[in-house]
This record gives sequence, C-alpha cells and structure tokens, in this order.
Amino acid sequence: MAVRWAVLGLLAACVASATKESVLNMCMDAKHHKTKPGPEGALHGQCAPWKDNACCTAETSKGAHQDQSYLYNFNWNHCGVMPDKCKQHFIQDTCLYECSPNLGPWIDQVRGRWGWVDNSWRRERILNVPLCKEDCDLWWEACKDAVTCRENWHKGWNWTSGTNRCPRGSICQPFKYVFPRPADLCEKIWSNSYKYTTEHRGGGRCIQMWFDPANGNPNVAVAKYYAQNGRDASPAPWELSGTETSQFV
Ligand SMILES: *[C@@H]1O[C@H](CO)[C@@H](O)[C@H](O)[C@H]1NC(C)=O
Repeated sequence: MAVRWAVLGLLAACVASATKESVLNMCMDAKHHKTKPGPEGALHGQCAPWKDNACCTAETSKGAHQDQSYLYNFNWNHCGVMPDKCKQHFIQDTCLYECSPNLGPWIDQVRGRWGWVDNSWRRERILNVPLCKEDCDLWWEACKDAVTCRENWHKGWNWTSGTNRCPRGSICQPFKYVFPRPADLCEKIWSNSYKYTTEHRGGGRCIQMWFDPANGNPNVAVAKYYAQNGRDASPAPWELSGTETSQFV
C-alpha cells in the first residue's frame, strides 16, 4: 500500500514539475501584456527595474504613470486628488502587474464577467500573489489618509461617463477606515490579486513590488520556489496522511 502511494506520488510529482516549469518566465494573457517576456530598454520611470526582462512595452510603462491612462481609463482621483506619495504605490502596483514575467504561478483563467467595465479582453488574472510584508505595509502607510468610496476597485463603479466615478449613495472616506489594516488594502482592493504575508523582502518567499534592479529581479527565485512547492506552498496530497488528503482531491 505504502509502495503504491509512493509510486503514484512520484508519477504525479514528475507530471506536476513538467507543467509547473512552464509557468516560469511568462506573460499573462491580458489586455496590454506582450505574448512573451523580453528586454525592453526604454521602460519608463518606476517600471524601469523590469527593463532586462519585461511583459510590458515602453508605451505601457508610460501609461502606468498617467492619471486616467489609456490602459484602463481608471481614475485614481475619484474622491479628490490622490496624494503623490500614495499614487507612487499604485504606479508600482501597475508596473508589477503589467511588466512582471514572474507572476505565472498565480495566473488564473477568468471565468465570466470579472472586472472593469467589460473584461472581455482579459482572459487571465492573478490570484493570491504573496506580496512582501514591507510592500503592503508601506503602501498602506502612504495611502492611509488618501480617500476612496470603494473597497473593491474592480467592481461597483459608475462607468457611464467613460471613467470610474463613485456610485450614487457611496461615501468618500479615508483609506484607514475603508481598509483598517494593510492586509485589507492589499487583498481587497483588487479582488484578492494579492495575498498579505509576513514574509520579508529578500527572503525568497514573497513577491516584491519594489526592488533594486542592481541586484537582479528577486521575484525570479520566488516564482521558482512557488512553482516547485505549490503556489500556496501547501503540501502535496501524497505528502499528507489520512483524512487530510480528502480536502485536496
Ligand atoms: C451614474 O452617473 C450618471 C452621470 O454620469 C448619473 O446620471 C447616474 O445617476 C449615476 N448612477 C449611479 C448609480 O450612480
């Protein structure tokens, strides 16, 4: 019995590792992403750290820095002007989303209507990307006094004017009330695209929104780790015993 499980586990592990390698160094199938990652010498501003290997074009990287850019027509200033120190984090979040070739382990097929006005262009999304504690905490700290009317920015806007406006009856409030803890911000704002972690930058177990490219892209090793160990880094079914297995089947 034990031998049979071991053989089955080995087989499953081989198949799994072959398919999991393919999620490394790839671009998701979404509106602005390139089909394959590659060098982009002229990436703009905060997106420059990805210039050696990126899923975004120079044009997309410029759009990431503009208010209400052609990228998504999204209006950061829906409850008054968003302070620059806060906007920087949303720009960095956009750079990571558009440029990173290391989000493969967290790419999910989009089922049905999901984001924005019409997401027909968006066949894939990211789900539960383990964001480094520092990236989430600093984002929250910089934005705690910025103001918004929505907790989930993917849904519930009034788009009749062509850009997102607060729907009638909603209230503009500081982020610190809408998102009491950093985890609320990072997880809820983009419908669980990110997962809050207590992992630290440089530890190889969390994705960094901000990094110094002089030392290479730290997210390469992180993607590899989660591709090999499962994106939730949970044990594989054959590594568990007894009844625990059933929840994974
Ligand atoms: C949406 O905005 C339009 C004006 O652009 C307004 O007439 C309409 O009442 C708004 N609807 C909601 C639900 O906020």
